[in-house]
Amino acid sequence: MSAPAPVVREDEPSIAALLAARPHLAMHAMDGLVLEGVPLMRIAEVLGTPAWVYSAGTMRSRLAALTAAMRGLAGVHYAVKANDHLAVLRLMAAGGAGADVVSEGELRRARLAGIAAGDIVFSGVGKSAREIRLAIAEDIRQINVESAEELEVVSALAAGLGRRARVALRINPDVDAGTHAKITTGTAQTKFGIPFAEAAAVYARAAELPGVEPVGLALHIGSQILSAAPYRAAFARAAELVWTLRARGLAVQRMDCGGGLGIGYRDEGDASAAALAGAIRASFGGLDLELIVEPGRWLVGPAGVLLAEVVGMKGGRIVVLDAAMNDLVRPAMYDAWHGIVPLVGRNAQAATAPVDVVGPVCESSDTFARGRGLPMTRPGAYVALLDAGAYGAVMSSTYNGRPLAPIAMVDGDRWAVIRDRQLHAEMWAGERVPDFLA
Ligand code: LLP
Repeated sequence: MSAPAPVVREDEPSIAALLAARPHLAMHAMDGLVLEGVPLMRIAEVLGTPAWVYSAGTMRSRLAALTAAMRGLAGVHYAVKANDHLAVLRLMAAGGAGADVVSEGELRRARLAGIAAGDIVFSGVGKSAREIRLAIAEDIRQINVESAEELEVVSALAAGLGRRARVALRINPDVDAGTHAKITTGTAQTKFGIPFAEAAAVYARAAELPGVEPVGLALHIGSQILSAAPYRAAFARAAELVWTLRARGLAVQRMDCGGGLGIGYRDEGDASAAALAGAIRASFGGLDLELIVEPGRWLVGPAGVLLAEVVGMKGGRIVVLDAAMNDLVRPAMYDAWHGIVPLVGRNAQAATAPVDVVGPVCESSDTFARGRGLPMTRPGAYVALLDAGAYGAVMSSTYNGRPLAPIAMVDGDRWAVIRDRQLHAEMWAGERVPDFLA
């Protein structure tokens, strides 16, 4: 029995619709798909594929738009995990953003890129003693404490260094962000934050400890959130807690409202920064708090593409690319939908045929799209996977012995390589065969 032929979903957005929603991308008759002012074909030919390309102008304008939406309300701290490349961090720093980091590596990257320690918050569910000590030594803006246990550890480490660390308590508001189960973080079942019912007691404890100064609260309910409703629910609970704490004589100066703003991968449209600002204002507006937000995806996701070449066809219904789940894992991991657009204009107009688009890795989950109406595509043709600027290169691995792909950055009509393709020998450079195998 042969496999059923892929069927194109009728509500699938057309390539024209995908491009219309992404002003940084355009299909030119001669140059094919152009990012800002640079034909992507040119970069594919120089760097080979797979290769990532980031649009500096898009990241810059998105940061400016978000900052404008938050003006006079909240500071923007870029969530480094979304895309931690030094050039991206440099661009965020130049645009006035602080950083939200979750590891020593991210903290060091942010500092290296020129983000001031006083503009860095440290989140994360399992900070090591070494990481906490570094955060204290650097005198960062605040450590977002995840649990009653971690609070004791931070206080002891800071006291040992003769310091008092500014901490915010990350609360778990038990609100469902209405996103994919693997990226929801604000319900009671998840590992994140201090249970809402215990938060006031932990805050009071923090006020008594010698090594910490509790400066406020933090929350982050999940990622790829498209509606303001879960934010409103979570912020309302946090505001209630601010009142409770203040009524007990505890000082609460700051609120970290988290990240999570979603983007339109398919045809959902971007989450509205203005709606997030409205939700923040509604709950915290009158509370005389220093507010911050820590978005990642919204700032950088739409600005990146992953270029790939078609290496083969199988039976006219499966298109095999040279990019794989080790490069972009989001479809395999979260069933994520990413637009796929040919780099050559004439292909973009050709009749579409329903195909499955896969990578060469030996796993069924190495599938980028099913039943996609992709204009045809023969071996040697290039395509761009869209919206790969967030949680793309940062989540890559060398699975199946595949080197990390190179990265280019476009800015207007200039472009530069910002990371070389990893050499095969670099993949095993740190490995040793022990003597007992000699
Ligand atoms: N703040 C904290 C504490 C976080 O854990 C995260 C993301 C953010 C901010 C930024 O969230 P964003 O604005 O980017 O949604 N790899 C997944 C997403 C994981 C998000 C993890 N935490 C994906 O590819 O969809």
